[in-house]
Amino acid sequence: MDFIKSQEEKIKEVLNKIGYKVDYVKLNVSNMPELGDYQFNGVMPLAKEYHKNPREIAQELVDNLDKEDFEKISVDGPGFINIKFSNAALVNYFKDYTLKEYDKNNKTIVLDYGSPNVAKALHVGHLRSANIGEALKRLATFLGYNTISDNYLGDWGRPMGLVMLELKNKNPEWPFFDENYTGEYPEVEITNEELEYLYPIASAKAKEDETYLEEAREMTARLQRKERGIYALWEKIIEVSKANIKRLYDKLNVEYDEEYGEAYSDNFVNDVVEYYKNNNLTRLSEGALVVDVAKEDDKKELPPAILVKSNGTVSYETTDLATIYDRVNRHNPTAIWYVVDNRQDLHFDLVFRTAKKGILKDKDVKLEFLGFGTMNGKDGKPFKTRDGGVMTLESLMDQVKEETAKKINENYDESLKEEIAQKLSIAALKYADLLPVRTTDYIFDIEKFCDLNGKTGVYLLYSIVRAKSLLNKASDINDSLIKINGLQDRDVLVKLLQVDSTLNKAFEERSLSFITDYLYQLSKSYNSFYDANKVLIESDEELKKSWIYITRKFVEVASTLTNILAIDIPNKM
Ligand code: ARG
Repeated sequence: MDFIKSQEEKIKEVLNKIGYKVDYVKLNVSNMPELGDYQFNGVMPLAKEYHKNPREIAQELVDNLDKEDFEKISVDGPGFINIKFSNAALVNYFKDYTLKEYDKNNKTIVLDYGSPNVAKALHVGHLRSANIGEALKRLATFLGYNTISDNYLGDWGRPMGLVMLELKNKNPEWPFFDENYTGEYPEVEITNEELEYLYPIASAKAKEDETYLEEAREMTARLQRKERGIYALWEKIIEVSKANIKRLYDKLNVEYDEEYGEAYSDNFVNDVVEYYKNNNLTRLSEGALVVDVAKEDDKKELPPAILVKSNGTVSYETTDLATIYDRVNRHNPTAIWYVVDNRQDLHFDLVFRTAKKGILKDKDVKLEFLGFGTMNGKDGKPFKTRDGGVMTLESLMDQVKEETAKKINENYDESLKEEIAQKLSIAALKYADLLPVRTTDYIFDIEKFCDLNGKTGVYLLYSIVRAKSLLNKASDINDSLIKINGLQDRDVLVKLLQVDSTLNKAFEERSLSFITDYLYQLSKSYNSFYDANKVLIESDEELKKSWIYITRKFVEVASTLTNILAIDIPNKM
């Protein structure tokens, strides 16, 4: 068992034995290391409950505890208990330590992340969703959950109609648009650059020109009716756009188990709408079919969810309900997590309430909206290009790469430099993106993100790469931990004690910030150790072996966590 967990269990047992009922005990990492490694603050609430002096209870606990694992345990201040573990206990715990994936727990989580709209350029917002989602998936998998990641492509709505209308205006002779055409469709050349170029033009026109907008609506309706030619053209567009999305997500180490988009979910829309109708959950409101979801104790008034609009088309909410219906049928999940921009919270509120009232009424599925904040420019507004346009994800990645290229050993050949710069830039970007608590906004600052001495992905990789190179030089030494000599090696081990609680906290809070922060603290401790000890030339053999062992454990843990964040580690820097 995890060392800290077992200490907590022991304290809990003793407390219960001496008459204080507690369900769980939590040890906190000490923020005053001179007093101890961990602190227990749990007697404070007990003092209130049992009307006793906290120091008295604390002393009683300490007197009854088996102290073999402690170098020092003391009651301090109003009744805090500070604990410093003995070196012998640490050696004993770590001598055959490995951080392993948890046993499977039979629970399935479906994660919806990335999920861009097809045919539009990916922008910085798509970085956050894909990045956070991928890491949460890996974290949940590590902690024993069965996970399914789904890239829920926006491939069935207005943007598709807009792009196809532009294609029609450019290529009126294409037979796709001719309803009466019955022949085979030609191979036409459509590139992703063209799609990304056409969409903003079409979108701007639609805003200004009512007739154009009407034409786009008609085009969307023709698609949704699956008119043969329009559908064939749509399939080509999807193919091109999907390949491009995959290319970018590959760079970010983002992988999906499935990629069912809105078009696929459309297959279940009728069943879902019928379900709500048959169960008398709908009413007509100005020609639209709606479901009331407001509750009496709502602080803000919530509009009804629209299932079918007055023109007969379905809404974003309906498609999401159909998706839930299908996911629950296929995967029987315990939870579905949506990693989407904070600004979509009303949409999900409507979807979740409608689902709970209807298709999920008798099902135990937890729907969670995991909103995230925006990446802003230094002016505090959503990040833009220099001329005020939307920053594409790709140009953002290129900018970071230019900066990280400066950090690489001059003497490497060009292709190696390129490979390392690529890995460093992804690490810098992803780490910076995962560092703030999920729901908060943050400011994009290239120099800060790439600082070799800062709280950055570059610093993290530098620490791991350096430690790995030390291991390579001592590859013949494979002994387990024998002894602890100084402050620095002990500190690395104490930091390693925190890994399980860090992973669990990150999972509970659905925020990778706990892991990025921990990795920084761990690397810092390791680097102080590295700087203080000349490992390879150490003449005390036992000490040298122990140091190599500690280095190996640092590399293992740091690499495992870095992999959970979906960050690759280069071999050199
Ligand atoms: N396609 C949407 C967008 O780009 C995000 C989809 C989020 N997921 C969902 N199930 N609605 O804004």
